Formats: sequence, C-alpha cells, structure tokens
Amino acid sequence: MAAPDNTAPLVALKNIRKAFGGVVAVDDVSVNLHPGEVVALLGHNGAGKSTLMKMLAGAYPIDSGDVMIRGEKVHIKTPSDAQAQGIETIYQTLALADNLDSVANLFLGREIVTPWRTLDDHRMDAEARKVFARLNKNFTNIRVPVRRLSGGQRQVVAISRALYFNARILIMDEPCAALGPEETRMVGELVKHLKAEGVGIFLISHDMPDVFGLSDRLAVMKNGRMVGTYNTAEVTEDEVLGMIILGKRPDGKAQAERH
Ligand SMILES: Nc1ncnc2c1ncn2[C@@H]1O[C@H](COP(=O)(O)OP(=O)(O)O)[C@@H](O)[C@H]1O
Ligand SMILES: [Mg+2]
Repeated sequence: MAAPDNTAPLVALKNIRKAFGGVVAVDDVSVNLHPGEVVALLGHNGAGKSTLMKMLAGAYPIDSGDVMIRGEKVHIKTPSDAQAQGIETIYQTLALADNLDSVANLFLGREIVTPWRTLDDHRMDAEARKVFARLNKNFTNIRVPVRRLSGGQRQVVAISRALYFNARILIMDEPCAALGPEETRMVGELVKHLKAEGVGIFLISHDMPDVFGLSDRLAVMKNGRMVGTYNTAEVTEDEVLGMIILGKRPDGKAQAERH
C-alpha cells in the first residue's frame, strides 16, 4: 500500500454524480474536506446534500466520480466500507433502533464479543457508560428503549457512535433539527471539540447562526449542482442566501476549494 499523502485532503469528492431514475440528484459535484475542518453543506430541500453524503457514507452507490481519502482512491460500497475509513454519520432523523436501549444502539452491528463469541454485555455496558458520560453526565437511564428518551438523549447516543468508533470524518446531517436550544448548544460544543481533535466534519444545516458559528468553509448546492465553495469568514449571510435561493455566486469573491 502506498504511504498516506499528508498534504492531500482528508476527503476529496471529485465529479460525483448520482441519478434516481430520471432525477439527477447529484450532478458533477466536487468538494474537499481537511483534518480539523468544518465544511457546511447548504441548499434548499432536494438540492442533493443528503444524497452526496450518503454516497460518502456507503448508503448509496456512486454512478460516477471518485472518492479520495488522504489522497488515495477508495471504493466505498457499503456502510462498513465507510466505517473502515473512519467515516461516521449522524442523520437528522437520529436513526436509532427505537425498541433497543442506548447500549445496544451504540454497538449495533459492531457488538463486543467474548473470546467464546458470545455478546460481552458487561463490557458494552461499561464502555457505553463511559462514552455517554463524556457527553452528558446526567444521562444514566441507558437501559430503557431509546424511544422513551428525549431528543437530546437520543442525540447523545447517535453522537456516541461517532466518538466511540473514533470517527476521523464525521457527517452531520441536520444534527440539531430535532433538538431544543440547550441541546443544540451542546452539539455546537461537540463540533468544536472534535474539530480540535482533527476530525473533519461535513455539517448539513439550515441554521445560519450554526453555519457561521461553526464552519470554516461553506459549500452551496442547488438542483444537484455545486454553486460554489467559500471561506465562511469571507461571505455575508445575504450572499449565502443568494447562492441558496438564486444559485448566484457573490460578485468579486474568490472561491475557496482547498486542494
Ligand atoms: N432514495 C431516493 N429515491 C429517489 N429519489 C431520491 C432518493 N433520495 C433522494 N432523492 C431525490 O434526490 C434529490 C436530492 O435529494 P436530497 O439529497 O435528499 O436533497 P437534500 O438533502 O439537499 O434535501 C431530490 O430530488 C430527491 O427527491
Ligand atoms: Mg437532506
């Protein structure tokens, strides 16, 4: 195997395309992500943001285009392929198995087993308590079905999957959509914490204060195409809205696609 290229982006999506029947959901889209960077993905409903991220996460096959991780071309065909690359996803729906408890959800599909190949419930319970406590010390009712938990507690479980399995690349698809203000603040803190640890984060959000408070760069999609990618500090909210609504790039500003 070739040595990893330390100057290459953590993720480079190149000319990615995906159609569902006649609908081109993602059309020739390229975007990069660097270690410790938050790139906000913006655009109206149906712009193609989730589809783009689901291809990176191995949930949908790519029709054409390349995914490079640290400069190497990878073939992500399943969610396990993505996880093997350190890619974790937190979906807006907080996709959890409602009838299972928090511990089972944390380890779903990646259970710890004993040397005798039986489930190591004791160890999973202990590990789960540790990781949940990192996010919320008051979250102790971890053995009830997650359907009985609050939005914030469910978010802790979803985020714990990323933390526990050492995500290097995190996809957050509207992580605050189901949350109250206090829980949203917590997610913001977590983003900053992971960023400081060098995790690269794609953040899909409609919330302008979140986008401007958390992202280093922002990339706007419209009708499956990339409108433009800019340093967040170099564009105004009005310019961003112009890109989202009209697909219009701001006048006289350089794009910021880091290669
Ligand atoms: N599983 C699917 N089957 C058919 N069409 C889909 C599917 N997922 C998304 N689409 C279509 O692809 C386009 C992009 O959707 P999506 O990626 O969900 O946009 P966004 O996340 O930006 O709101 C939309 O036209 C949507 O209807
Ligand atoms: Mg979406």
